[in-house]
Order: sequence, then C-alpha cells, then structure tokens
Amino acid sequence: MMFCGGAKDKDDQNVKPQKHVLCIGMACVDFVNIVKEFPLEDSDQRIQDYYWQRGGNASNNCTVLSLLSIPCEFMGVLGTEGVEASWILKDFESFNINTEHCVIKDVHCPVGTIILNMTNGTRTILFFPRDRPEMLYEDFQLKFKKDFSAYSWIHFELCSNVLEISKMIDDVLCYKNSNGQPVVSIEIEKPEFHNYNLVINKADLVFVSKDYAKSKGFANAKEAVSGFYNLCKEGAILVCAWSEQGASLCINNEVLTCPALQNIKVVDTLGAGDTFVAGFVGSLLSQRFYPTEPEHTTKIITKLEYALNYACHLAGLKCSMYGYTGLK
Ligand code: FRU
Repeated sequence: MMFCGGAKDKDDQNVKPQKHVLCIGMACVDFVNIVKEFPLEDSDQRIQDYYWQRGGNASNNCTVLSLLSIPCEFMGVLGTEGVEASWILKDFESFNINTEHCVIKDVHCPVGTIILNMTNGTRTILFFPRDRPEMLYEDFQLKFKKDFSAYSWIHFELCSNVLEISKMIDDVLCYKNSNGQPVVSIEIEKPEFHNYNLVINKADLVFVSKDYAKSKGFANAKEAVSGFYNLCKEGAILVCAWSEQGASLCINNEVLTCPALQNIKVVDTLGAGDTFVAGFVGSLLSQRFYPTEPEHTTKIITKLEYALNYACHLAGLKCSMYGYTGLK
C-alpha cells in the first residue's frame, strides 16, 4: 500500500468532522397530560401524570436523530420571552443538538397542550402558535451565505412559510456537490397549509402525512404514494406512514409497503410520525445511501426497503413508551 504521509483522503471521516443533518422547522414546548380516559367537557378530575417536553416536528426529528447517534442541527426561530425560551435551548443542548444557526427573536415560543390517553395512546394536541415564529428566506440566506458544506442532508418541515422554504430549497439545490449532498427532504403534514406544489417537485425525498393524504381523499398509504408521485421530480422518493397500518413508499412508480410493528401496547403516539421520519433518514444515512447518488436500482430498493422497515419499527417502539429517551 502506498503511504503518502501528507494530505489524507478528503472523505476520511476521521479527518473531517462528520457532516450533520440539518432539520429546519419549529420548536415548541409540549405540556403533556396523561389521562386514563379522555376527559368530559366541563369536568374536574385528577390526571395520572404531567411533564414538559420539547416538541415541534423538526425539533422532534433532531431528538430522535441524536438518540440514534447521528450528528444533527436544528434551525428555526427561537424566542427569548418567557421561562420556556431558555428551557428549550438547554434541552437542545442536553441532547447534543446544535442550534448555532437559529434565529433569535423577542417572541414567545409556541406551546402545545397535549392530552395523552394512556389506554389507547391517542394524543390530542391543543396547539397555540403564540407569536408564530417562522423562518424567513432572508434569515436563512444571511446565516449560510449559500454554503452548505457542513451538511449531508437538509430536512424541511413545512409550515405556513412554504414560499420562503421554496427559496431556501433553491439555494441548497444550487449548492449540491457531485455526490448529490446535501440531500433535500420535506415533510408535508398539515392539511391547513397551502402552496405545497411550490416545493413537492423540488425535494429528493418527500414525506406526506396520513392526515394530509386523507384530506386529499386517499384511503391508505399505498394509494397515497401512487397518487402523489406524479407531483414529484424524476427519481424522487415519496413516503407515507399510516399509523397501525404501516407505511408505503414510491420510487420511479414502484411501490414498497411495510407493516407496522406488531404486538405492542400503545401508550404515547405523540411525535410518532416525527420518529418515523428521523428513523427513515437515519437508516439511509447509516447505510451511506444518498437518494440522488446514481446506484443500481436493485441496490436502491434493498436499502429503501430496509429504511422503511426500520422507520416503522422505530415509530412503533416510540408508541410503546413515553417520550423519546427510551429509543436510545
Ligand atoms: C408532534 C408535534 C408536537 C407539537 C405538534 C405541533 O408531531 O410536533 O410536538 O406540539 O406536533 O403540530
């Protein structure tokens, strides 16, 4: 073997810091109330337990990625008002999640009051956006100056700022290196937001939620991925998880399906979808598979099948425990 002694291989992971997954979206505080049965309106009762938890889809994605030992960063607007503001920052820190590019504003963070029914695991979310801190393209541009070399993957949670996100994605697509990194993924979750057509044809990987698919008339994940696929760009991957029915994905019009994890006692479904997304991304990264890299189709399908199984497994495990830390 030739030993040059000088510069090492550019991609040597021991020399270069490992690239991060950047998740862009919202961070909030979830006030979780655990009940034995769903409360009656205007009743007064004791509940079983109560705790605070950092929430928001992109923030939850980071929590799970970090528990899977995948270096990650959260980017969003963080408020300075109220006791929750400093608590959120400390909590990110305790999970080793980088927040260096967050936009700090004098606003309150959003809050979710969650009713968790311990009997069947349903989570009822009463969400209050308060000052509605959402990322603007201007902030994104100022922070990165179009340099995304630190990231292997950039995931966008779509809120009402789809137009802003569309411009952010354009910057990342212009930057992409010859390996197709950073990979761009988006999550379309909320039926009440619009203009998703501005971004769905730009992402390498699209996650569509069950709620969104149902709002468009689809009855299951298989139908949803086939139905939405023509909106995606060529070669993109479209994924849809459907709770206890498992999940499906579509690539080049080929559909793969995987069942949900069986024989679990479901106690907490809060953030199960976010866990699925993180599990899928995490699995592809640990298999060193970047969706835009040209690879042989059968190899791609095997890796995607593995990721789909892994994501379903992880989301199921999450439902069987309170919070996320048990996933470690
Ligand atoms: C779970 C979650 C919660 C948050 C709510 C926002 O997916 O991100 O943490 O309260 O959804 O819609």
